Amino acid sequence: MHDDRSANRMWGGRFAGGPDAIMEAINASIGFDRRLAAEDIAGSRAHAAMLGATGIISDSDSRAIREGLLTVLSEIERGDFAFSTALEDIHMNVEARLAALIGPVAGRLHTARSRNDQVATDFRLWVRGQCDAVDGALVALMRAFLAQAEAGADMVMPGFTHLQVAQPVTWGHHMLAYVEMLARDRGRFRDARARMNESPLGAAALAGTSFPIDREMTARELGFDRPMANSIDAVSDRDFALEFLSAAAICATHLSRFAEELVIWSSAQFRFVRLSDRFSTGSSIMPQKRNPDAAELVRAKTGRIAGALVALLTVMKGLPLAYSKDMQEDKEPVFDAADTLMLALAAMEGMVRDLRPDPAALRQAAAAGFSTATDLADWLVRALGLPFREAHHVTGALVRLAEEKGCDLADLSLEEMRSVHPGIQPQVYDVLGVDNSVASRASYGGTAPDQVRRQIARWKEALG
Ligand code: ARG
Repeated sequence: MHDDRSANRMWGGRFAGGPDAIMEAINASIGFDRRLAAEDIAGSRAHAAMLGATGIISDSDSRAIREGLLTVLSEIERGDFAFSTALEDIHMNVEARLAALIGPVAGRLHTARSRNDQVATDFRLWVRGQCDAVDGALVALMRAFLAQAEAGADMVMPGFTHLQVAQPVTWGHHMLAYVEMLARDRGRFRDARARMNESPLGAAALAGTSFPIDREMTARELGFDRPMANSIDAVSDRDFALEFLSAAAICATHLSRFAEELVIWSSAQFRFVRLSDRFSTGSSIMPQKRNPDAAELVRAKTGRIAGALVALLTVMKGLPLAYSKDMQEDKEPVFDAADTLMLALAAMEGMVRDLRPDPAALRQAAAAGFSTATDLADWLVRALGLPFREAHHVTGALVRLAEEKGCDLADLSLEEMRSVHPGIQPQVYDVLGVDNSVASRASYGGTAPDQVRRQIARWKEALG
C-alpha cells in the first residue's frame, strides 16, 4: 500500500496523499481567514486605485481591477464563492477569482505589494472594526447597569469583603462599580484602536518597494491616520492584536466577576436576586432548580479569552523580524476572543436588564452580621472622643456581647452597652440602623444615596 508518495505510516492515515496534502493542511489559512474577505478587498481596491493614480498601472487596468474586486466581494457576500484550500489563503483566493473574471490584468494588482503587508493591513482593519463593535456593546451594558443603579439608588444591601458581610452599601453603588470598570474597558479599546490605526500597506515584503507608491493615499482611503513609518515593523508586529486581546481579557474578567456574583446571589442561600426565565434553565431531574447557566458561561468564557491572549503572546515571543509564517496563527485566537466577548457582553446585558433584586432580602442581609460595627466605632470616636484603636476595641467587646446573647448590636440595651463603656449615650442607636449607616458615607465616591445619585446623573449625561 505504501509507496513513496503515500502518507506516513504513523500519522498519515487520514491523508489521501503524501506530504504535499499534509503540507496543504498545515499551510492553508482559508478555513479561517475568509473572515477577512471584506477587508482584503477594501485593501486591494485602495491599492489598485493608488497604482492607477501614480501611473504605476494604467487607469483602465486600475478600474477593471477595482470593478472586478467588487464582483468578487458580492459573490462572497452572497455565499456564491468556492473557497479553495489549494489557494491557501483569502488573498490568493480573491486574486485567483479576479483573474478568472478579468483575465491577466488581475496580475497587475500585486505590483508593489506582498501578502505580508496585505495581511497586516487586512487584520488591522478587522481588529479596528471589532474595537468599534465592542464599544457599542459596552455602552449598551453600561446603560443596563445604570438603569439598575437608578432603580436601586438607596436600596440597602450588604457590602462584602472576603465574601463576609462588611458594611451596608446601596445596590446603586454596587451597580455603578461595574459602570466604572466598563468605562475603563472602553478606554482601553479606544486607546488600542487609536494606536493601531496606521497603515502597513506599501511596506511590501519587509523593505518597502522600488515603485513610486503613495502610501498616504492608501492610508487615507482605508481610514488610517497615517502610513506606518517603518516597513519592517509594519509587516512584523502584531501588538495591535495583543492590545485588543488584553483589553478583551480584562473586560471579560470584569464580566466574570459580576457573573460570579449573580451565581452566588441567585442561590437559595442568598436569594438576593432573581434572574429572568430568559437567562435561567431548569434541571431535567430536580424540578425545584433554576440554574444561572448564562452567568456561569460568561464566567467560563473568560478562560477562552484570556487563553487567546496567552496563545498569541506565546506565538509572538522570540520571533525574529520580519514576517514568519508563525504569524498566520494570530487570527484564530483573535476571531474566537472577539466573538466570545461580543456574546458574553450581549448575554450580560440581557441578564442585567432582566435582573430583579429582592429589596427585603438585601436589607435583611445588610443588617445581619454586625455590619454597622464600623459605624459604632466611628460614633465612639466622634461622640466620646475615643482614639479609633480604642473605639475598635470597645466595639469588638460589644459585638462579642451581642454574639453571646444571640442578638444584633441594636438589640443591646443601653445598660448592656454601658457595661462595656460607661460613656455610651442613647444617640448611639441612630448609627446602628443600615439606612443611617449608608447615608453617613457621604464622602466623595462613597455609598450614600446622595453620592450615588450624583454619579448616576454624571453617567446619564456621559452616555446620553
Ligand atoms: N496567510 C498568511 C498569513 O496569514 C498571509 C501572509 C503570507 N505571507 C507569506 N510570506 N507566506 O500570515
